[in-house]
Amino acid sequence: MSLRTRLTDRFDIEHPVLSAPMGFIAGGKLAAAASTAGGLGLIGGGYGDEEWLRREFAEAGNARVGCGFITWSLEKKPELLDLVLERRPAAVMLSFGPVAEFAPRIKSAGVTLICQVQSLAHAHEAVEAGADVIVAQGGEAGGHGGDRATLTLTPEIADYLGRAEPDTLLVAAGGIADGRGLAAALMLGADGVLIGSRLMASAEALTPRGFLHAILAADGDETVKTTVIDVVRNYDWPAPFTGRALRTQFVREWHGREAMLGEPTTNAAERERFWDAFNAGQAEHTGVFVGEAVGLIRDTPSARDVIERMVRDAEQLLSAAGSFVHR
Ligand SMILES: Cc1cc2nc3c(=O)[nH]c(=O)nc-3n(C[C@H](O)[C@H](O)[C@H](O)COP(=O)(O)O)c2cc1C
Repeated sequence: MSLRTRLTDRFDIEHPVLSAPMGFIAGGKLAAAASTAGGLGLIGGGYGDEEWLRREFAEAGNARVGCGFITWSLEKKPELLDLVLERRPAAVMLSFGPVAEFAPRIKSAGVTLICQVQSLAHAHEAVEAGADVIVAQGGEAGGHGGDRATLTLTPEIADYLGRAEPDTLLVAAGGIADGRGLAAALMLGADGVLIGSRLMASAEALTPRGFLHAILAADGDETVKTTVIDVVRNYDWPAPFTGRALRTQFVREWHGREAMLGEPTTNAAERERFWDAFNAGQAEHTGVFVGEAVGLIRDTPSARDVIERMVRDAEQLLSAAGSFVHR
């Protein structure tokens, strides 16, 4: 079983699969499991909690892992980049915000720079900053993202890189949860895929257990792009990013009433309720970021099983593709 691409060559890995740096969800265990399964795991640095980062890097043990940051948030705690670079990560991924401030530090440390982008304009910026790998993230993705679809953004960036910067690798993200998605991404011109939602429902993720029932039960119609989860948490996300999440009772109650949720007294009370429910895994009463791929998730296997299944199925599909009959 092997799908050799420029991504597997660049990182010296077996499978062209990166596990996404999902804040709160992708700790050291998931990243290490993805790496030992033959992909490359990224710890979710999220909004930057130093203690959490130290602990999760320790949890990854000796596995070769990388780390991702929410760029606009890293601007507030830039010292966390040093903490990560000291640990000799396999890569640092930046997403959601200007990368020029951090790219030189990452590159001069000899660490591979991955930039996740949501538009052509972001891709131009990433190339200018010297990105080694660009992740084209479509709006189907779980968590924060833009409006473009994976199906058009990926080949458009592939064409752009082919013309402007052919040595920069391309990874597709958003809506990829099985072998069909991986095979399609490679056909679109990507060198590999970055997987979030599917691995959120794996044994090693830090996903609150109660969320898993909601994820397994939902179909792909049951997500929405919303800002209410950011408003309640007081996270000041810049435009144009919004988060894709399950339409839980909490989201249904506040979506469209963001101004009221932002009102200080309401916000303080709702925030406490939100985090209590989050920590207790009460999906209906909190926010559950997950993508449209939720409709393709029907079990909670190990990360190794997810990755091996995906690669095996993609391989079969790609080798069968030659025998398609056009009618
Ligand atoms: C629960 C969750 C949390 C996420 N948190 C982050 C994050 O902190 N930083 C980041 O760059 N991307 C984050 N993402 C987005 C992923 O990096 C990735 O783009 C996305 O999961 C890919 O789409 P998929 O969910 O359809 O696989 C998150 C995604 C999910 C599902």
